[in-house]
Amino acid sequence: MAKGRTWRVAVCPGDGIGPEVMAPTVAALRAVAGREGLALELQHYDWPSHDWHRRHGEMMPGDWREQLAAHDAILLGALGDPGPTNDPDRYLLSDGVSLAPLLQLRKGFDLWACERPAVRLPGTPQYLADPRAEELDMLVIRENSEGEYVAQGGRLAPGTAREVATQVEVFTRLATERIIRHAFERARQRAHLRQTGERPPRPFPRTGGGEANAQVCLITKRNAQAYWGEMWTEIFAEVAPDYPEIATHHELVDAACMKFVTRPWVFDVVVASNLHGDILTDLAAVLCGGMGVAPSCNINPQDRRVPPLFEPTHGSAPDIAGQGLAGPEAMLLTAAMMLDWMGEEDPAAARAGERLRLAVAADLQTRSGEARGTEAVGAAILDRLDQQ
Ligand code: IPM
Ligand code: MN
Repeated sequence: MAKGRTWRVAVCPGDGIGPEVMAPTVAALRAVAGREGLALELQHYDWPSHDWHRRHGEMMPGDWREQLAAHDAILLGALGDPGPTNDPDRYLLSDGVSLAPLLQLRKGFDLWACERPAVRLPGTPQYLADPRAEELDMLVIRENSEGEYVAQGGRLAPGTAREVATQVEVFTRLATERIIRHAFERARQRAHLRQTGERPPRPFPRTGGGEANAQVCLITKRNAQAYWGEMWTEIFAEVAPDYPEIATHHELVDAACMKFVTRPWVFDVVVASNLHGDILTDLAAVLCGGMGVAPSCNINPQDRRVPPLFEPTHGSAPDIAGQGLAGPEAMLLTAAMMLDWMGEEDPAAARAGERLRLAVAADLQTRSGEARGTEAVGAAILDRLDQQ
């Protein structure tokens, strides 16, 4: 098969279950790449990690940016408490230190859009009793560059009775407009797939009457946080007319949490601030079977030269780390998202991503009731990839 371009991927397993779920993912990537004639060059990094910190006194080397910038994409396992939690002598760092690389990577490469699809695959745990929750399909897009996560503020007179803590939130027109526009672009793609029959149709009511086949729901807390809430609302209203075929909706974040549980099937694309998106995506993950099957990516939709960061929504799961118990599905589905991203330029990658997602879905559907460890699930998926 003719080879397209070569994709260089930095593979960073990280902490806790990260290395455990990364191993079968690397094997699966090699398998699908081989099948589709996709040129993948995987380079392993043992940082960022607790282990690197133990040896070098920092989570990653000072020139991390230069090293990672040489890659087309970054695939990260997990960061945080390395576990196991019953080992009181394990090398432990504060969350502020161990998780900092996540924010440094996202900010350092200006990966301003965090995409977290919440698609319920048959065979995964279903926590909602309503049968309509069997097939959920939403995409939560989280603003990833500013908002509540700018780390501005400080503590005045720490430890004293007159201590004051400030935590500044920053919302710019530029970052708001680009994330909202991106949400509409994704909705447009979803509308197209539903129109061509590649995805099942979904009707969404339009404000002016009639139905659309995709929707963007804006999340704010504008009844209490009026400044940014109103700015987001205004910008949303300015952008929406450029996408007349897409239905629009708004929810306050607290009501959205309630409706994610009572009727999540009414949501399609959801666009939220950094903190709201963070909270909503844990909830959305659980609606679709849990953190063990929730993929995620951080991308810069305007600049494909910076390496996007693909990392599952889950953390290092220290309670089960080191025991070979973690489900690799979230990591595998995250790798499939990476292939999709490559697939926007390279048809072999697009096919490889589809192949990997189908194999994970088929394994979940047929074998998810069995008690299997990480390796057994990885091996079963690999077998399936060989037979496909
Ligand atoms: C996530 C995580 C991180 C975040 C933390 C660990 C900083 O919760 O990826 O959702 O809030 O972005
Ligand atoms: Mn989170």
